[in-house]
Amino acid sequence: MRREEQIRLLRELMRHRDEGTNVDAGGHRRNPTDVYRSPEIAAQEWEHFFQGYPQLLGLSGDLPKPGSFVTSRDFGGPVLATRDAGGRFRAFANTCRHRGVVLEDRDRGEAERFVCPFHAWTYSNEGELVAIPKPDHFGTIDKACHGLIELPAKELHGFLFVHPDPEGTIDEAEVLGGLSDEFSSWDFGRLVHVGTDLYDMRLNWKLAIDTFGETYHFNALHKDTLAQGFYGNAQCYDIFGKNHRMILCLKSLDALRGQSEDAWHITDGGFPVYYLFPNVQVNVGATGVTLVRTYPDRENPGRSISRITFYSTEAAIGADPGLALQRARIFGDVIRDEDYKVAEGSQLSAEAGLQDYVIFGRNEPALHHYHNTYRRVLGMDELPLLEA
Ligand code: FES
Ligand SMILES: [Fe+2]
Repeated sequence: MRREEQIRLLRELMRHRDEGTNVDAGGHRRNPTDVYRSPEIAAQEWEHFFQGYPQLLGLSGDLPKPGSFVTSRDFGGPVLATRDAGGRFRAFANTCRHRGVVLEDRDRGEAERFVCPFHAWTYSNEGELVAIPKPDHFGTIDKACHGLIELPAKELHGFLFVHPDPEGTIDEAEVLGGLSDEFSSWDFGRLVHVGTDLYDMRLNWKLAIDTFGETYHFNALHKDTLAQGFYGNAQCYDIFGKNHRMILCLKSLDALRGQSEDAWHITDGGFPVYYLFPNVQVNVGATGVTLVRTYPDRENPGRSISRITFYSTEAAIGADPGLALQRARIFGDVIRDEDYKVAEGSQLSAEAGLQDYVIFGRNEPALHHYHNTYRRVLGMDELPLLEA
């Protein structure tokens, strides 16, 4: 992040603290609760957001060296991603060209070759079909035409994006929405994968995203946890295309007062949270990143799975990766046990249909932007801004 931007944001947090203000959307909006329960809307979301839009597969540290691979089934079809001998990030349908079974079943690891468990057809990590057992028995197959089906893949400033559709395109300007330089300056590509947790929750995937949309709730919901280290209801907010960035306010901000601004770093007093459309939160701490991706259950709008991945600098991991994971999980546990727990209540209420709408306050601009962005993409009317 540019120096001037870091200073601007830290000053703004101080101003909010001094004046008792917060970011202000200028009014509130009403969000109809049917978006959290409607199978028709869920079907459109699946098609437009999860099949027709690039998906974040992880950070560069998920494929730390040539020969690394990861797999995913989070957004439908099975995906196999590799880093080939030349260091290039590649993605393929994780399905064997013979009878279509899943080729690689492990979540991650290292492999130059992938051998199908069914009849042992073998593929390179560049997707070539390199061996068919007993070809004289099987019959003649043009191996060059039966490599793994490749998916569009781009490594952008430490983020691994894949498009679920082989004919899809990944447009950096659209996916990052003007955050390219800022992400480049963070050097996320240096971070090491520490661990992954999955939270299977009874809540619509958007309710999970909504819990990241404001810090108005910190002093109530997180009074015994995050509010120890954060000032609630004081944040910065900026929009980047379909994405946005919140800067949460750390209590350590106070220690910057009186210090030369030249020495300030954003993570000394702020906690950046980037939202990347449609389903990603990038939580940036001083020593690493917690990535939260939330996926709908295709069959049930009232259920979602969040994949929480923890990444740290080598220095922060030190000699004890187990301890680093324990430390990182403290944040994840709060998300699951506090944010998602209350959001499961919102799901119950939405499904009961007793309340037509919920309200996004003027101090919750991320919720305004997120909901209106996805409504626009689906061709729905935007939620109007209502004055108090
Ligand atoms: S299905 Fe993969 S080798 Fe037969
Ligand atoms: Fe929260």
